[in-house]
Amino acid sequence: MTEKDFIPKTYSNTIESGSFTWSSPSNIALVKYWGKREHQIPENPSISFTLDNCKTTTTLSFLKKDANEAFSFDVFLDDEKKDDFKPKIETFFKRVELYLPFLKDYHFKIETSNTFPHSSGIASSASGMSALALCLMSVEKELINSDVTLKTTEEILNQEYFIKKASFLARLGSGSACRSLEGDLVVWGKHDAIKGSSDLYGVKYPFEVHQNFKNYQDTILLVDKGEKQVSSTVGHNLMFGHPFAQERFKQANKNLSDMVSILKDGNLDTFIALVESEALTLHAMMMTSMPYFILMKPNTLEIINKIWAFRNETGSKICFTLDAGANVHVLYPEYETSQVLEFIQNELVAYCQNGQYICDVIGLGANKL
Ligand code: DP6
Repeated sequence: MTEKDFIPKTYSNTIESGSFTWSSPSNIALVKYWGKREHQIPENPSISFTLDNCKTTTTLSFLKKDANEAFSFDVFLDDEKKDDFKPKIETFFKRVELYLPFLKDYHFKIETSNTFPHSSGIASSASGMSALALCLMSVEKELINSDVTLKTTEEILNQEYFIKKASFLARLGSGSACRSLEGDLVVWGKHDAIKGSSDLYGVKYPFEVHQNFKNYQDTILLVDKGEKQVSSTVGHNLMFGHPFAQERFKQANKNLSDMVSILKDGNLDTFIALVESEALTLHAMMMTSMPYFILMKPNTLEIINKIWAFRNETGSKICFTLDAGANVHVLYPEYETSQVLEFIQNELVAYCQNGQYICDVIGLGANKL
């Protein structure tokens, strides 16, 4: 599919007002997306686990207005008006207007809430943008005069299109958001070994996954709940002209190929090596860019060292990954849950801000409320 396939033909219905609610999950990348070209096209493919507990719920209410040149919307987080969220949504609306030509016909009220604290340093852009994209797709679906006599295959195709376009739109809001639409493992970015993969949207991981990864656990240790030191847009831009960029993009492609075998065989030692190396490479890219940044905090390193020591002592399959911040995602197989939680309580909580952490588990994607 190409971008053109997401431009709707005509809308045959008119609606005055309405509202839709969707909830959508966050995700954590195993092979990281870091570096993008124009129009939110990733420089390399990435793969992520979908998180079951960290979610955003968004209600989009809309009321017909005179179509004019301006977008009109208000945003609320937990019932509080959030004008500082507006620029990001305005940029998103501009990027997707071609694909959702009704955007200027309505005034929108966007009411959103997260299952995780907003100021936790957990990126809400993946769950937030994917939830908003789903709401907008529901509006579009109403505007397309759906034929109630549609045959089953057509319905399925429509459903597939709905999710695909939601992912396509979410990507234009925030790249990683396109991996929050469907499936517990999601690939975004063209990769030769992964059929159906695309730079334009995320796809459900299409191959066999070993039982070891079922209900994989992710405990997010909140090391630093402050505002991000580097916005993701600034961060991605640091890859332009970065001395190691091309090697990094090649490495991510190779890591994704290797991940396919790992996911099939269930080899947790190679999984650990690949995932931790990806996390540290992401941070290495930031440390070696110009300007340069260190996004880890002393406690991030303390935690990493403790995890390594625990693994050496016990033979546990615990490992860590990081996103573009100081928080640590502790990953481990379901059968180690009680042992690892005890270790976290005894040895890692001390390094979390206010002792805070969030227990999550890899699960399936978005669901309508
Ligand atoms: C480090 O998706 O937040 O989490 O496209 O600019 O919104 P934008 O970036 P964003 O970047 C996330 C990068 C990452 C790695 C990943 O999720 O793959």
